[in-house]
Amino acid sequence: MTEPTKPDNKRRRVNFSKEKIEIRDTHEKVRTAKKRTEQSARWLERQLNDPYVKRARAEGWRSRAAFKLIEIDDAYKLIKRDSYVLDLGVAPGGWAQVAIKRGAKKVIGVDLLHVNPIEGVDLIVGDFTEQEIQNQMLEMLGRKPDLIMSDMAANTVGHRETDHIRTIALAEAAAYFAIEFLETGGSFITKVFQGGGVGEMLDALKKNFKKVYHFKPKSSRSESVELFLVATGRK
Ligand SMILES: C[S@@+](CC[C@H](N)C(=O)[O-])C[C@H]1O[C@@H](n2cnc3c(N)ncnc32)[C@H](O)[C@@H]1O
Repeated sequence: MTEPTKPDNKRRRVNFSKEKIEIRDTHEKVRTAKKRTEQSARWLERQLNDPYVKRARAEGWRSRAAFKLIEIDDAYKLIKRDSYVLDLGVAPGGWAQVAIKRGAKKVIGVDLLHVNPIEGVDLIVGDFTEQEIQNQMLEMLGRKPDLIMSDMAANTVGHRETDHIRTIALAEAAAYFAIEFLETGGSFITKVFQGGGVGEMLDALKKNFKKVYHFKPKSSRSESVELFLVATGRK
């Protein structure tokens, strides 16, 4: 079995030049408040000083995650004009915003969390792994999706391996759902983690799609083990 091919460098190059904005690079320190744990203080400090967070705020994206989808879509051109899209783990809505901005005709988003309305996006609050929720998404979309994208991440419990396994399980559920319901020629994106555990899912994707790529967006934190599987051309 061959390893998934990476896109060539030319395609991987991401050009944000059109959208370049000035970012004031001021470093904000966060004091550890009495009730705030060291860990959450570190998270908040990182958020406040992250250039993608600043840029997302300045450009009106709901999350820094929006830049990951922008990079993925620049590389593989998955969001076509008039695409029908399912967004799994939509909250707070950055990916859905990108899909709409890039011409998707219909986007249905699902999340365990409530999401404030996004123009052009229909939202479902629920657990994607439940069949009833999956049926609801498909019914609302009204036809087979051209693109299924999953940025789902399980709530962390603080135990690295457990967190890893739970998020990979979500990616697997999304992958088998995509294999079953995508339109012929359709594409699938899912968040996974470096460090294994995706063997069977990868085999299934390779069997059912023309190409499968691994992609680590520049906007994905370098210290994070997160990366994305991109499968194109549902057979
Ligand atoms: C990294 S966030 C998604 C960010 C989003 N792509 C954006 O651009 O704003 C991951 C989301 O997955 C959701 N999630 C985790 N498990 C889920 C499940 N079983 N069903 C639906 N959503 C789930 C979480 O609630 C969380 O909001």
